[in-house]
Amino acid sequence: MRPLIRTARCWLLRARVRAMATLPMASPAAAIPSSATRPVASPSSRSHRPLTRFFSVAPAPVGAKGLRAAASAVEVGGVKIAREDVVKEDDPTNNVPDTIFAKIGLQLHRRENHPLGILKNTIYDYFDKNFTGQFDKFDDLCPLVSVKQNFDDVLVPSDHVSRSYNDTYYVDDQTVLRCHTSAHQAELLRDGRTHFLVTGDVYRRDSIDSTHYPVFHQMEGFRVFSPDEWSGSGLDGTAYAAAELKKTLEGLARHLFGAVEMRWVDTYFPFTNPSFELEIYFQDDWLEVLGCGVTEQEILKRNGRRDHVAWAFGLGLERLAMVLFDIPDIRLFWSNDKRFTSQFSEGKLGVKFKPFSKFPPCYKDMSFWINGAFTENNLCEVVRGIAGDLVEEVKLIDNFTNKKGMTSHCYRIAYRSMERSLTDEEINNLQLNVREAVKDKLKVELR
Ligand code: DAH
Repeated sequence: MRPLIRTARCWLLRARVRAMATLPMASPAAAIPSSATRPVASPSSRSHRPLTRFFSVAPAPVGAKGLRAAASAVEVGGVKIAREDVVKEDDPTNNVPDTIFAKIGLQLHRRENHPLGILKNTIYDYFDKNFTGQFDKFDDLCPLVSVKQNFDDVLVPSDHVSRSYNDTYYVDDQTVLRCHTSAHQAELLRDGRTHFLVTGDVYRRDSIDSTHYPVFHQMEGFRVFSPDEWSGSGLDGTAYAAAELKKTLEGLARHLFGAVEMRWVDTYFPFTNPSFELEIYFQDDWLEVLGCGVTEQEILKRNGRRDHVAWAFGLGLERLAMVLFDIPDIRLFWSNDKRFTSQFSEGKLGVKFKPFSKFPPCYKDMSFWINGAFTENNLCEVVRGIAGDLVEEVKLIDNFTNKKGMTSHCYRIAYRSMERSLTDEEINNLQLNVREAVKDKLKVELR
């Protein structure tokens, strides 16, 4: 049954993606207000990446190892996704660049010797040990999902910032690259599942620094309870599910981090009520581990589980793996360099990464007058389109408005390879190309 859901879903979507491609649309850049960050997660947390259009084609990244620059189709769960299903230069409702298409199907979380695969399997071990045979596991559901699955099915309000073209990759106005694994909750419930874990690659337009990358990985957990499970407990369904949730996730945190101090923080998610974040005290700081809560009744009701209750959680694999394996930069997860990949092996959680190079970053500044449509996410997409994984950070260092009301931004771009030293000539060329692309694509006036 499992391959069927996945396969049917992908094929259905592909058919619709094709059908939609010819429909005319107003320019979404103009229609949807932009914003800098986004919470599908709680409003404050940038950590889940926390949960954050316009041009379609980015030039192939320079020296970005591991990208299949020339690939025209990729495979997910045995299904082919062609480049033209996802990247549509001439469609104004599409904002997926080639750099993102190049990541689809890589599925780092399915590599047994990769930190993300090791972490996924360690979480599986916890659920297998404590809930033997109960949780169904999915790790190759198609990342192309409908707007309905990604947002409506999990009650994300129609004006929520995470729906904007500035924050989410749209294949067309009805189809996105999922921005969270919560996008699969409703379909799995309708399929009759009551206990499941969904791991997958998720996609978000965002700014650039050492902990943010436009593709990352999440795991979603979901458990449904029927009335007879809580009737004898003296608690109502919601309180029972919340207590079960906390017990389960505290156990998971101990399984991953050992005997750590923990705290629960109240927060907001559209799909749960109450909603919480679990934090642990680790390496002298409070670290947000995951978001979770008691599933909104409406979701259960719409998907065949009226009168039931459920808990759900979502966690970002990279942020946990960075801490557990001491990985200093999120770009490293994508490295094919043996000096990175050979350091990790199946079943060994928490082996500390030994940096193999300490090349200094090289900084280049650029200033320009912005226009009304300018957003930092768009800038970062242009920079990544030129420099690929050689860009480490894009940071606003100066911002002023002159007497005529024109606003100037100065951004400092840090270039650094994780694998080799960059020559002055190479960086100067990159910067030159970045300046040209920023001017052309963002229509800003360089200073
Ligand atoms: N989807 C949320 C995000 O990406 C994470 C999350 C939070 C998932 C709470 C859940 C949940 O299932 O209950 O930020």
